[in-house]
Amino acid sequence: MLTVHTRAALAAALDPWRRAGERIALVPTMGNLHAGHLALMRRARAEADRVVATIFVNPLQFDRAEDLAAYPRTLEADAAALSGAGVDLLFAPPEQEVYPRGRDGVTRVEVPGLGEELEGAHRPGHFIGVATVVCKLFAMTRPDVAVFGEKDFQQLLIIRTMNADLDLGVRVLAEPTVREPDGLAMSSRNGYLGPEDRARAPALHAALSAFGEALTRGERDFPALEQAARSQIEAAGLRPEYVSLRRRQDLALPGPGDRELVILAAAWCGPARLIDNLPVDLPPSG
Ligand code: PAJ
Repeated sequence: MLTVHTRAALAAALDPWRRAGERIALVPTMGNLHAGHLALMRRARAEADRVVATIFVNPLQFDRAEDLAAYPRTLEADAAALSGAGVDLLFAPPEQEVYPRGRDGVTRVEVPGLGEELEGAHRPGHFIGVATVVCKLFAMTRPDVAVFGEKDFQQLLIIRTMNADLDLGVRVLAEPTVREPDGLAMSSRNGYLGPEDRARAPALHAALSAFGEALTRGERDFPALEQAARSQIEAAGLRPEYVSLRRRQDLALPGPGDRELVILAAAWCGPARLIDNLPVDLPPSG
């Protein structure tokens, strides 16, 4: 695996592959890689001739300065894991390469509506930062396909919307959430959890699972189910920010005919803000 840190070196590495007509897959990350990230790499490996991973802790998508400074940076171990997963090229640029004019006045990409609720409502500007950096990574790499995790479900829909609206022409693929054995969704932010908070953290997924089972049993009082899930999360010692049942395709509130749904939630667990979601298919009779 080749590791490059500049846009010029990235372009030089990609050029012969593109000339040879090889299909290129891109997997953007912020590093501190875990099994969830590596599942995306394997999917990319299966979908293309060449796999490009990026590691960039994007300051534009952080809403609080201390969170950005505290974000774990483990480039050496990450490079070893990527090499083991069959990645061909790692692009790990410094901030100056991505935002050469500085980040403040940079042209931004906004997906209105979808970008402003749920995560967007609790982290203003977050999805503008995400869409902007992913758009730039698409432009720098010009991949045939790009792979993202369902773990960040709203992010995935925002990237799909941006890709369609801006005619970027990338095939955007999604991989299911990879979890710890106790159900906690893998996340680089789980490293912020001390032992007690780590023991509480699976309550988020447990509450979503109970919500999903209630729907599958035929319960249809959505607000009551959302409230029950919030209470269950609170009872475990977490602080829920939202629990919301939405239509999977566009995160609109579900109407009577909608069957493909997703439950999305965010909760503070000690110092860590956890997000999770659970896709649910309502039975046709429901
Ligand atoms: P990061 O949190 O590093 O995640 C990189 C990719 O890994 C995202 O597509 C995310 O959804 C996926 N991922 C994270 N945890 C996962 C899990 N447990 N199972 C499956 N996939 C998982 O998301 C970002 O970085 C950034 O916002 C980024 C898209 C790189 C833009 O800066």
